[in-house]
Amino acid sequence: MCGIIGYIGPEETGRIVHQGLKNLEYRGYDSAGIALVDDTITLAKTEGQVDELTAPRADGATAGIGHTRWSTHGEPTETNAHPHTDCTGEVAVVHNGIIENYEALKAELSDTHVFESETDTEVIPHFIETQLEDGVSLLSAVQRTTHQLEGSYAIAVTAAGHEGIVVARRDSPLLLGHGDDATYVGSDATAFIEHTNRVTYLESGDIARITPDEVAIYNDGERIERETETLEWDAEAAGKSGYEHYMLKEIHEQPRALRQAISGRIDEFATSVDLDVALPEEYLRSVDEIQIVACGTSYHAGLYAKGLLEPHADVRVTVHLASEYAFTEDRDPWRTLVVAITQSGETADTLSALRDASRAGARTLALTNTLGSTVTRDADDTVFIRAGPEIGVAATKTFVSQVATAALLTVHLGQVRDTLTSEAATELLESLRDLPGAVQQVLDREATIKRAAETYTDSEAFFYIGRQAGYPVALESALKLKEISYDHAEGFAAGELKHGPLALVTPDTPVIAILTEEAAAEKTIHNVKEVESRGAPVIGVTSDPVTTDVASTFEIPSCGPLEPVVANVALQLFAYHVANEKGRPIDKPRNLAKSVTVE
Ligand code: F6R
Repeated sequence: MCGIIGYIGPEETGRIVHQGLKNLEYRGYDSAGIALVDDTITLAKTEGQVDELTAPRADGATAGIGHTRWSTHGEPTETNAHPHTDCTGEVAVVHNGIIENYEALKAELSDTHVFESETDTEVIPHFIETQLEDGVSLLSAVQRTTHQLEGSYAIAVTAAGHEGIVVARRDSPLLLGHGDDATYVGSDATAFIEHTNRVTYLESGDIARITPDEVAIYNDGERIERETETLEWDAEAAGKSGYEHYMLKEIHEQPRALRQAISGRIDEFATSVDLDVALPEEYLRSVDEIQIVACGTSYHAGLYAKGLLEPHADVRVTVHLASEYAFTEDRDPWRTLVVAITQSGETADTLSALRDASRAGARTLALTNTLGSTVTRDADDTVFIRAGPEIGVAATKTFVSQVATAALLTVHLGQVRDTLTSEAATELLESLRDLPGAVQQVLDREATIKRAAETYTDSEAFFYIGRQAGYPVALESALKLKEISYDHAEGFAAGELKHGPLALVTPDTPVIAILTEEAAAEKTIHNVKEVESRGAPVIGVTSDPVTTDVASTFEIPSCGPLEPVVANVALQLFAYHVANEKGRPIDKPRNLAKSVTVE
C-alpha cells in the first residue's frame, strides 16, 4: 500500500531516504515526502512520483523518514502527502495502514488543534504533540498515542530536539535493517537492501526507539529482543538488470524462479516430494475440506490449485475471494484446512480471512513468497514459493511459482492421504521438472509474441477463453492485460461464451483461446469457431497447432498437466508488449499498488 523508509547514520540523510523511496515506489506512487530531523524538522512533499520530490538538505540531520503513498483517505495532493506534522511543525509522522477511529480522535482535539489534510494519519502527530507537552520522552509519547489508535498502522516518528526515530506497528508490516554504522526502517527490505541484508522483523504491538547508538524494542511495556535474520537476496535481485521494466525482468526470471521453487523438493526419480510441511500427517489425513483464500492473481493460482488438489488428494476444495470469505458454521473446523495464497504475505483481505478461520478453530497454511511477512506469523504453517523479490506491480513470476508450489503440495497431500497413484505423482513431478525449460522456450519466442501484440495494439477489448486449468489462466491473462494496458480484458470459461458474453464479440475484439489439455482443447475449438464466425480474430495458445487449426497461434512446448502455466507465460509477454506499445507505465499502473494492506 504505502512505503515507509527511515534512516539513522552518518551519510547524507536526505539522499539515503530519497533513494529508499525510489526503491519502495512500487508500494504506492501518488505522492511522496521526506522529513529530516535535528533541532528542527525539514520537510519536503510532493504530489506525484518520487522523481518529482527534491530531497531536502539539512546539514545537521542525523535521522530522516520518508513515505510514498497509495491514497486511501484523501486525494493524492501535496497536503495529504506524508510526513504529517503537528501544530508546531516539530513532530513528523509517516504511516502505512488505516486509523479507523480518526474522526473521533480529530473531534477530541479539534478545539485546540488545526488539521490541514483529509487523511486519517494527521491525528497521530497531533496526539503525540499533546503527550510531549507533558514532558515525556518521544518513546512514551508514541506509546501513549498508539493506545488511542484503532485499526492498523506501521509508523515512523521523528520530533525536533529528540534524538533518533521511534517506530511502532500493529498489523501493517515494518522491519529494521542493520548496517555497520547505520540503522534503517522499511515497510519491506527493498527500502534498504543495497545497504544491508541483516534485518529484524517487528511483531504486531512492537514499538522501538532507534538512536545512533542503540535499537531498543519494547512490547507491552517490556524491553524485548527480536532475532536478526540475514536475507538471501541482494540489491541485484531487486534491481532491473538492464531490462526496461521490472515486469519484463520478472517474466524472464521465471525459469529460475521455478527451479528455486522445486529445488531440493523432488526426489531424483520424480516419485515423491519433501516440502517440509509441519502440519501433522494424522491431521492432514483427517481433513475433508480445503478452503483456499486469496485475492487477484493469487486467487487465480488458487483456482488452478483446486484442479490439482481435488482429484489427486481426494479432498473437497473451495476457493474463496478473501474479501468475501467467512468461516461458516456448517463446516467442521477440525476437518477444514484453510490455505492462504499471498505472494506478499501482507494483503489485508487475505490476512483477515485467515484470522477468521483461525478464530473458528480451523488450522491454517500459508503459501507465500515473503519471509517474515505477517502471514507467516499468523498461519499455523508456511510453505515458501521461493520466487525471489517481485517489484513489478503486476504479478508474474509469483503466479507460476504459486502454481508450482501448489503442485508440490498436491503430491505431498496425495501421498500422505494415500490417494495419489505413483503414475499420477510421476506425471505431475515430471511436468514440474520440465516446466522451467518449457517456459524458457516460450521466452525465446518473445519476438513472435511481440509482433502479434503490435498487431492488436489498437484493439480496446480482448477476451480470453479456456477450460479446466485453462480457465484460471484465461482469468489471469485477462487481469494482466487490463491492469497494465488499461484495455478492457475479460476471461471466460470457454463454454460460457455462448451463454451471454458472445454478444460482445465483434471483428474488433480479439479472442485468445487457451488450447491446452487435449480433451478440453477439443471442446474449446468449437467455441473458437463460434467467435470466428462472428468475425473475431483468434489467437490460439497451443502445443498442437496442426490439429487445432486456428488461423493464428502462439506455439508452446507440451508440458503435461502444467502446460497451462506455460500458456500463461506467453500471455504475460503478450500483455506486456501490448501495454508497452501503448507507452503505459508498466511497473506502476494507475490506481494500483503492489501490496494492498487495507481491506
Ligand atoms: C495482479 C496482482 C494482484 C495481487 C493481489 C494479491 O497482478 O498482483 O491481483 O495478486 O493484490 O496480492 P498477494 O498475492 O500479495 O496477496
